[in-house]
Amino acid sequence: MAINTRSDGGLPVMKIGSLEHRDAFCSHFARTYLDYDPETLPWPVLDEAALHRLRQVPFWEDVYYFERRAGAIVAAFTETVADPVLKEALALQGREETRHANLIRVMVEKYGLDAPERPIEDLGADIETSFKDFGFGECFDSFVGFGLFKIAWQSEFLPREIMQIFSMLMYEETRHIVFFINWMAYTEAHKGWLARTVSPLVTLRYYVRAVHNKISFARRGQQVDDGKSLAALQVSMFLDGFNFRRFLEDCYAENSRRMNVFDPELLRPSFLPQLTAVALKALRLWGRRAELETKPGPLPPLYGAQPAATQRPEG
Ligand SMILES: [Fe+2]
Ligand SMILES: [Fe+2]
Repeated sequence: MAINTRSDGGLPVMKIGSLEHRDAFCSHFARTYLDYDPETLPWPVLDEAALHRLRQVPFWEDVYYFERRAGAIVAAFTETVADPVLKEALALQGREETRHANLIRVMVEKYGLDAPERPIEDLGADIETSFKDFGFGECFDSFVGFGLFKIAWQSEFLPREIMQIFSMLMYEETRHIVFFINWMAYTEAHKGWLARTVSPLVTLRYYVRAVHNKISFARRGQQVDDGKSLAALQVSMFLDGFNFRRFLEDCYAENSRRMNVFDPELLRPSFLPQLTAVALKALRLWGRRAELETKPGPLPPLYGAQPAATQRPEG
């Protein structure tokens, strides 16, 4: 077996790029699958005030679009993959993304939200690059989303029953990025990169592309829907008293908390958490006398929780 052992005598560490690594991240992905049908989830009956707040959220149309596009990208990429183990796991991710889109559609119909179905743009000439762009975009969105979700949870902006459903969605997105970063490292290892991690330069390049794509989307969104889109970041409705440092603290802390539930042998995204840790150090030095900005209060529930152990960063 191609296994390394930690110098501290801890658990054996799989060699990244080995078949053991492939089997570990693919079987973990299948094992942590949640079986549910969006139609039969416990959707609550909302009173007028809650319904109004839900309808005020400006980005349902974009979320619906992104999830449908995600399903299409992952499904198209899956078709190009020969390895049967990877193919099966990728097919599962594609079905989950399509189920996310269905979940949003069910919610839109149930609560009469304004989110028409838009045609999906071209998926790109090179579907593997599109999949990587999508994967790093998910890593970025999830990291930011962890902080936003915690703030929304604590502000009780929407009823708990709805937020519980979104919590499940967040868990699935976290699974996706853990799977993706392991797939990426496995793929890079087979191309002759350092068989230990995803190259930081490759990671940086894709994050720059992800941010560039978001800016382009925001510009198009402003032209098309007069700034109504998700990219317009009209999240101030539940960010009363928003503080950037507190937001970064929340993203960082929530990322750690959510990543802790996964198998410690697997890689996980670490580029943005490390960048954020550096930024937070600088901000703490800058405002040394400021009080700790992390807002106390109840935390969103965790799915798939298991005892935390030493984790393997993506690098
Ligand atoms: Fe999704
Ligand atoms: Fe996803």
